Parts: sequence; structure tokens; C-alpha cells
Amino acid sequence: MTPCSHHPTPPLSSFSFSRTETTADPLSLTPRPRSTFNPRPPPPPPTRLSCSTAHTPEMVKAIRVHELGGLEAMRWEEVEVGEPKDGEIRVKNTAVGVNFIDVYFRKGVYPATLPFTPGMEAVGVVTAVGPGLTGRKVGDVVAYAGKPMGSYAEEQILPANVVVPVPPSIDHRTAAAIMLKGMTVHVLVRRVFKVESGHTVLVHAAAGGVGSLLCQWANALGATVIGTVSSEEKAAHATQDGCHHVIMYTKEDVAARVKEITDGKGVNVVYDSVGKDTYRASLESLAPHGYLVSFGQSSGSPDISIGDLAPKSLFLTRPSMMHYTGTRDELLQSAGEVFSNVANGVLRIRVNHTYPLSEAARAHADLEARKTSGSILLIPDN
Ligand SMILES: NC(=O)c1ccc[n+]([C@@H]2O[C@H](COP(=O)([O-])OP(=O)(O)OC[C@H]3O[C@@H](n4cnc5c(N)ncnc54)[C@H](OP(=O)(O)O)[C@@H]3O)[C@@H](O)[C@H]2O)c1
Repeated sequence: MTPCSHHPTPPLSSFSFSRTETTADPLSLTPRPRSTFNPRPPPPPPTRLSCSTAHTPEMVKAIRVHELGGLEAMRWEEVEVGEPKDGEIRVKNTAVGVNFIDVYFRKGVYPATLPFTPGMEAVGVVTAVGPGLTGRKVGDVVAYAGKPMGSYAEEQILPANVVVPVPPSIDHRTAAAIMLKGMTVHVLVRRVFKVESGHTVLVHAAAGGVGSLLCQWANALGATVIGTVSSEEKAAHATQDGCHHVIMYTKEDVAARVKEITDGKGVNVVYDSVGKDTYRASLESLAPHGYLVSFGQSSGSPDISIGDLAPKSLFLTRPSMMHYTGTRDELLQSAGEVFSNVANGVLRIRVNHTYPLSEAARAHADLEARKTSGSILLIPDN
């Protein structure tokens, strides 16, 4: 049901790092129904981002979620940052990426142990390295995307093997705006379904953080790109980002418009991150043997059954970027392609919204209200 295209990939960008083990923390981002989590938070344990040894604790500010649900659950608090242990580094964040997955965790769509510091993407400067670690040093500028959660913090401890060096040509904010979203797009267009010249692709939420980059990359690969958006302003962004056709999915019949645009043929692939509100139109818009890549659920989970695939022998996959970047080699390959595409101009980054880190709740409110386009950053207050 979920075959992937296996095609040759372009050469790796050169990244060096002396430890090559894979991440110790396996990924399990299986959505679960809201009704299964306990709405009563356990009593808060001592607030710390990492275990520390006996000496005076160093305190930093971070966002903490003590109960699942609304924006009020996000509190700006002092937390303790421990010393990095074996295989770890401490990083002072300079720019933190906001992603829709942060909303899912805050609301309990994905499970997390309370209390927690949200955030799965940041760029920062290494301030300490764990004993015996080579290949990373104080002062290095590094980026990470994915696990561990906890980037909504002024400083955090990270396993050294999840960070990549940021090329000097790429500034901190650009790197934080593109790390998670760019690697997601790399996975979507190069590995999950390999987009090629002559393909027609449909991208929902085309002006969003991931959508904006997805349209640019698919266009650069030679595809005809159809994007859906909710407003005229977002339609203009989508056009600038390489959409050949833009559909206002809040007003227009998506499947009918796709049929018209493709002369009845349908599209080869739909990249659907909206889910509940779009999956029916996605299925209808596909050509025979087309791929429905369901990679998110901003509007709720899609209710697809295997029988929905039968009329056109469709393929369905539900990928997570993290499952495709779980080894050090995969991570370096993905980040390398993203940074190369920034350097060579294929990807132009829209950082349309920045907020002080302490006001992360405002960023979440705007993201959930569909007021944002492009990437969203939190900038540490100090
Ligand atoms: N599977 C993975 O590995 C992976 C990795 C990264 C991101 N994602 C997914 O990709 C999607 C985009 O993430 P992002 O961080 O870049 O967010 P985003 O696209 O910037 O924001 C979400 C967009 O979705 C659209 N949308 C449609 N219905 C919505 C609703 N009911 N509520 C909120 N938004 C709605 C809105 O665009 P319009 O106003 O144009 O409708 C909104 O701007 C998310 O679903 C996320 O979970 C998946």
C-alpha cells in the first residue's frame, strides 16, 4: 500500500562530524484520539531540561506546558539546564522554528509526558560539550530538527548526533526557518514520491511553511504545480513560490478545478497536510495509480479506508520526516540538500512572522487561526 520510489539521489553536501551513531530516541508519532489522554496533569516535577550534576544549577527561561489544551497552558518559566553528559552538547538558541507539530503536542494529538517544553527545531551556538566528545566545540553554530522536543528554550541540552553544522553562508534565522520544513520537503519530493519533470502535483496549504518550500522545490524539479490556499494574499505568495495554478479551496471545488487544469487526467501526487477537510478532494483529484501523500492533519485526521483507493488503484502513504532522517547519513543527506538548495537559490525562505520566545502562545494562536504564511520564528528574548 505504501511503495516508495527508489531513484538515485544527488551527491551529498560535505558535512563532517566524528560521531556517526544514529539517534538513540526512536520515533513514534502515532496520533491518538483526544479521549485517551488524561486531562488532569500530574503534579509538576522539579523543572529541569536535563539532569545535572551536583554544582549550582544554571537557570534559563523556557516555555513549559503543564496541561494539554489551550494557549494558556504555555507558561514562560525558569528551568534548569544541566551540564552536557557523554555524547551531548549544550546549545544557546538564537532562533527557534515554530511548526504545526508543536500545536499537536500542546493539544495532545500526539502524546507527551507533562510538563514539557515544546519545540522541535532551533539554531544556536554550542556553549558546552560533554566529556570525550570530539567533532563539536564551543562556538559552533548548529541546527537541529525533530527529536528531542524542547527547543522553546533559551538554552537546551541536545545529543550531538542530532545537530548539523550550519554553513557560514546561511544566517541563523534562515536556517531555523528551513531546517524542519526543508527536510520534510526533501523527504516528500525526493524519497516518498520522487517528483520529476512532466509530473503534475497538487499541494494543499501551498502558502504555509512547508507548502511554500514544497511548491518551490517541485517547480524546480520540473513539475506542474497546483496549490490550494484560503486567501488572495496567500494565492499571491503561492504564485511567487512556483505554483502554476492556484485554487482557493475555501471557495472553489478543488477536484473540479484540477480536472479542468489537467484536461481530465488528474494529478500524479497530492501532498495533503490539511487532512479532514481536503482528503476527499485529494482522492478525486488523483490520476489512476496516483499517490496520496497524507503528511499532516491541520484540520483533523482524514477518514480514509482502503476501499477509497480501489477505483483508481491509488497509493496511500503517511510519512514522517523523522522516520526518513533517523540515521546520521540520512540526516546529513537531507540537511545537505536543503542547505544546497538555499545556497543555489532553489529555495527562497519567507520568514513572515517573528515573535519573542516568551510570546510563543501568540505564534500558536496565529498559526491555528490560519493567519500565517511561510515560516514562523521565535527569537529568544536575551
Ligand atoms: N509528516 C511530517 O513529517 C511533517 C513535517 C512537517 C510538517 N508536517 C505537517 O505539514 C503541515 C504544515 O505544517 P506547517 O508547520 O508548515 O504549518 P502551515 O502550513 O504554515 O500552517 C497550516 C496551514 O494549513 C492550512 N489549514 C487548513 N485548514 C486548517 C485548519 N483547520 N487549521 C489550521 N490550518 C489549516 C492553513 O493554510 P490556508 O489558510 O491556506 O488554508 C494554515 O496556514 C502540518 O499539517 C504539519 O503537521 C508534517
